[in-house]
Amino acid sequence: MLFADRTAVVTGGGSGIGKAIAQRLSAEGARVAIVDIDAGRADAAARELGTAAVAIQADVSRPEDAVRLAAEAAARLGKIDILIHSAGVGAERRFLDTTPEEWRRIVDIDLSGTFYTCQAVAKVMAGHGYGRIVTLASTAGIRGGTGRTAYGAAKGGVITLTKVMAVELAQYGITANTLAPGAIETELVKKMHSAETRVVYRRGIPLDRYGEPEEVAAVALFLASDEARYVTGAVLAVDGGFLAAGVMHSRSG
Ligand SMILES: NC(=O)c1ccc[n+]([C@@H]2O[C@H](COP(=O)([O-])OP(=O)(O)OC[C@H]3O[C@@H](n4cnc5c(N)ncnc54)[C@H](O)[C@@H]3O)[C@@H](O)[C@H]2O)c1
Repeated sequence: MLFADRTAVVTGGGSGIGKAIAQRLSAEGARVAIVDIDAGRADAAARELGTAAVAIQADVSRPEDAVRLAAEAAARLGKIDILIHSAGVGAERRFLDTTPEEWRRIVDIDLSGTFYTCQAVAKVMAGHGYGRIVTLASTAGIRGGTGRTAYGAAKGGVITLTKVMAVELAQYGITANTLAPGAIETELVKKMHSAETRVVYRRGIPLDRYGEPEEVAAVALFLASDEARYVTGAVLAVDGGFLAAGVMHSRSG
């Protein structure tokens, strides 16, 4: 088992990518704390994992919740080896239409939430000289897609924040890497992508389909494992080739 004797905190673990990662970590022997703003989802996901898993309700956009979740997870699991920070929300609003309220809401959850949670958990990890942090950015944090004003800016921030963590936390035995998924079939995407968006989006994906949460989980597991002990500060795309493709891309050759 890849994660026997390891413990993991998975934020956003009640749904989608976070839930798939929590399931794989648990199947590989880790004891997992599922953190979610939705207590019902966190409880249900933890129950699916069995008695070794715990559920913690927290809103990652609140610094006091981040400190509490780190303390509670450390107390209930005994230590925190791995943090997967998958809690996040999507947003699609053009630049000229984005209101200050919407900007603040998305940046608070997607970017500040990453900062608060990673900082609180890294303080616990630093105390025992070991840690694996994996954040969730997005291809939207790298390419300037239409309507990705607040979301894309927040995810771009997550990429840089993760690199800074990689640099500053190396001395404590902590690695920090980020994933840049493309379009992955989760509730978030089902809400955000219209039928028309799906057709257009697929044209830009060389592998010609949306990804599955389990396909992101496989990459997260690698980064969370000791197989990746010399990998830190990396941005790993899990996007079917979307970022690699330029305007000359055509599936027919
Ligand atoms: N699905 C995609 O195509 C895709 C692509 C790129 C990046 N991502 C990123 O991956 C992460 C997970 O996305 P997903 O598709 O699994 O979404 P999802 O909606 O299926 O799951 C997100 C989970 O986060 C929780 N959450 C939301 N706000 C929270 C908060 N303030 N505090 C704590 N929990 C909160 C939700 O309750 C939910 O359970 C997000 O950061 C998202 O931006 C997703």
